[in-house]
Amino acid sequence: MALEIFAHRGASGIRPENTLAAFREAAELPIDGVEFDVHLSSDGVPVVIHDESVDRTTDGSGYVKDMTLDELKQLSAGCRFADEYSDERIPTLREVLELFRGKPQRLNIELKSDVFPYPGLRENVIALVREFGIADRVILSSFDHVTLEAAKREAPDIETGMLFVEILADARSAAAGIGADALHPALPFALREPGRRAAAEGSVLRVFTVNDPEHALMLREAGAQAIFTDYPHRMLNLFK
Ligand code: G3P
Ligand code: MG
Repeated sequence: MALEIFAHRGASGIRPENTLAAFREAAELPIDGVEFDVHLSSDGVPVVIHDESVDRTTDGSGYVKDMTLDELKQLSAGCRFADEYSDERIPTLREVLELFRGKPQRLNIELKSDVFPYPGLRENVIALVREFGIADRVILSSFDHVTLEAAKREAPDIETGMLFVEILADARSAAAGIGADALHPALPFALREPGRRAAAEGSVLRVFTVNDPEHALMLREAGAQAIFTDYPHRMLNLFK
């Protein structure tokens, strides 16, 4: 079976992560999907950025939750990657969904409510998915399994993926307990016996973050369905 390729935070190996530049690159590739992370601004707008704070990826500092969209838009989301990307801004979820309108890739929206609860994040994201009419293209995932369970209850037609880093002995039961449709494990689980067993028993495994071609080949053999990679071009070359 072919291993599906998802661009992690866009084509983040060669473009600044979670920016429109990274998503534009990914949108033109013959890959299966794109993954990105959402937080909520202080004025309630879902924005696409990985960390709770803007410090690592922008020229600003502070928590996303304490800044309005206007304040977030002042920051450069690309200058830390390279000068030529200085004009890149933190995208809103709406801007990213616009960019992928009519494109073939699946969209994995990771709800980053792990540290801060972001009241309204889940509801906002689901409302946007409905507005764009893309419930069948979207996968909602999270390390916050409480939020993921609630998302499944509110939007049963949207696929959910349970993120985890542990080598769980019985991940299938854990996923069933929160109504999750797929397992989104870190690499070690997928390569060990519990991961291989879950795949053999029919679980969909999408594995993060896989940048080493050797690991990708091992995962294909272990029965994983998809990988999240910062280097989609590299993986396309491997499997072509
Ligand atoms: O969704 C897969 C992966 O993105 C989860 O980890 O920290 O890169 O968001 P992280
Ligand atoms: Mg992520």
